[in-house]
Amino acid sequence: MPRLLDHRPDLQTERLSLRRPADRDVDAIVNAVGVWDVARRLARVPYPYTPDDARFFLERIVPAEWVWAITLRGSDHLAGVVGLTPQEHADTAELGYWLAPAHWGHGLMTEAARAVIAFGFDHLGLPALTSEYFDDNPASGRVLAKLGFVETGRILRPCVAIGGDVRAVRMILERPTAWTAPD
Ligand SMILES: CC(C)(COP(=O)(O)OP(=O)(O)OC[C@H]1O[C@@H](n2cnc3c(N)ncnc32)[C@H](O)[C@@H]1OP(=O)(O)O)[C@@H](O)C(=O)NCCC(=O)NCCS
Repeated sequence: MPRLLDHRPDLQTERLSLRRPADRDVDAIVNAVGVWDVARRLARVPYPYTPDDARFFLERIVPAEWVWAITLRGSDHLAGVVGLTPQEHADTAELGYWLAPAHWGHGLMTEAARAVIAFGFDHLGLPALTSEYFDDNPASGRVLAKLGFVETGRILRPCVAIGGDVRAVRMILERPTAWTAPD
């Protein structure tokens, strides 16, 4: 899978444009991930979250994973991030995402993730995608359910911002046999 990482086209949906995150996004990333209610729901980000943390994301994570900046069509401003993390010993990738709080509640993440899922199935040929959410985050559970993910188990997952393990729900979406990419 890693050799395919260079193949990362911009993606379009009805309301969104998804593009590669860039240096000009540092402030928008810090302003959003620096909010406790965002950071505590993500596994891998520290809190407080600084511009150096955003630069680490841009320099180390973005080249190694399929990650897109979510922008509203007609605006270049980063509203959130969605991506697929390749799994080391499996032919799957993990879907992850966050959105700045000002944009919550409008169906945007479901729309963005749907485009990334289509990319994972159609262009990467992945047979399945996984995701995990902390069990005190029902909005994320609802996003995954709307996308067709189903629960496969419960685990304790480390959360860097919280500094300890948090109860989490594991989810999977298998590529349908008659998969067709959404418009
Ligand atoms: C989770 C997150 C991405 C959702 O983004 P969003 O664009 O608001 O999501 P959508 O609007 O597509 O869908 C949210 C769904 O959750 C529901 N929801 C929201 N808050 C809820 C709550 N407290 N309890 C139950 N359902 C809730 C909404 O009603 C909606 O479902 P519906 O369409 O059936 O009405 C966003 O809240 C976020 O970025 N949170 C912080 C970071 C995070 O949690 N990332 C995911 C880590 S696993």
